[in-house]
Amino acid sequence: MQVSFSKRIARVFRGSALPLILLSAGLVTSFSAQADENFSLGAASCGGECHEAELEVWESSPHNASFNKFDDPSDELTEKVEAILEAVGSDDMTESPVCTNCHFTMIKETADEEAFADSGPSCESCHGSGSAFRDIHSDQDVDYDQRMAKAESHGMIRPNMKFEIASNCNGCHAMARPEVDGATIAKMIDAGHPIKTEFELVKYSQGSVRHRFYEPDTSVNAVMTKAELEALYVEGQIAQLLAAHQGLQKSANDKYKTAMQIRLDDAKANLSAVDGSAGFIGSPSLDSAKALVKSIEGKDLSGAVGGKLPDPSDYKQ
Ligand code: HEC
Ligand code: HEC
Ligand code: HEC
Repeated sequence: MQVSFSKRIARVFRGSALPLILLSAGLVTSFSAQADENFSLGAASCGGECHEAELEVWESSPHNASFNKFDDPSDELTEKVEAILEAVGSDDMTESPVCTNCHFTMIKETADEEAFADSGPSCESCHGSGSAFRDIHSDQDVDYDQRMAKAESHGMIRPNMKFEIASNCNGCHAMARPEVDGATIAKMIDAGHPIKTEFELVKYSQGSVRHRFYEPDTSVNAVMTKAELEALYVEGQIAQLLAAHQGLQKSANDKYKTAMQIRLDDAKANLSAVDGSAGFIGSPSLDSAKALVKSIEGKDLSGAVGGKLPDPSDYKQ
């Protein structure tokens, strides 16, 4: 489903010589397309023959809807987009390497093709670039555990890797992606790009985004148990704290710093009752985050999370 984006948002920048970059899951940071870089294959390529149920869920998610919103924008949205584009020196959202980082799934079939905006954020935005692992993870000739371990080492972000997935969510939802530098973020925010503080993993992932078609009944999109929600909540807070900590070092923009500080303080408060969190809170880093994630595995977190779990009626749809 290649949509032309020929309407107002794309009106001036067609035919630009700017090299498209490959984007997805934070794996690619270069501004020049190189033959050996990982790239996305698109939701249809994951869904088609294999993950049909997941594709169906995604199709009715806000990530998918977002593409049409920007493709056929209201006057108000057009104005907003144009102001932000101008601030980063571009005229076309689907061709601005800044915007495509977070708003689109840029796909192609082979390394030497030029990628194009196929949809809003999709499977590979959360699970990693398919070119790097698709054939490995689906190779039925290899034992399941073995091929999944290999796929993981090729960048697949597996469903059990909640902290890594949450770090991806935060990258886009809290403007923390390493690909977008502090100066660019400051320009976008000054031109009106939203910077919200409310993203929380349970609330945002258990509504229309939820796809959990697990054994024993793979026809059911299963709701999480309370213990699973508590673990998800804590891993989400760990990712939030780390992203906000990194964000604070990235830009001196007042609005951005204020938002990051709020997210940092919230996550600190929410994690303070988790056993063993002091080291990470005192000195946040990827290593200390992963150590804390490992240490909470299988633990009863009900005391630490308490009443903080969002009510299902507040889940984002
Ligand atoms: C770091 C990720 C990121 C980048 C880079 C980014 N956006 Fe966004 N953008 C988002 C997210 C996430 C939202 C949704 C805001 C929310 O609800 O939290 C959003 C929302 C918006 C909105 C508001 C939509 C509405 O309905 O009001 C506009 C306009 C927008 N982006 C334009 C742009 C443009 C233009 C660029 C490129 C110059 C860009 N964005 C780059 C993540 C990003
Ligand atoms: C917004 C991020 C996001 C997007 C987009 C996304 N996933 Fe997921 N996916 C997750 C998370 C989080 C889990 C973990 C679910 C759990 O265990 O609670 C998951 C779990 C899964 C699982 C295991 C559960 C199941 O349903 O079998 C599969 C397979 C999967 N995703 C495939 C896909 C495919 C295919 C797409 C695109 C059509 C997709 N995902 C889009 C975040 C995402
Ligand atoms: C590649 C960037 C990216 C990633 C990764 C990502 N999102 Fe999003 N998300 C967006 C953008 C962009 C929008 C839509 C903005 C718009 O349409 O204005 C959005 C919208 C949403 C919405 C609707 C927001 C609302 O206010 O109703 C939810 C819910 C959501 N995302 C949840 C998640 C969750 C949960 C994860 C991780 C499991 C995730 N997203 C990962 C970029 C991303």
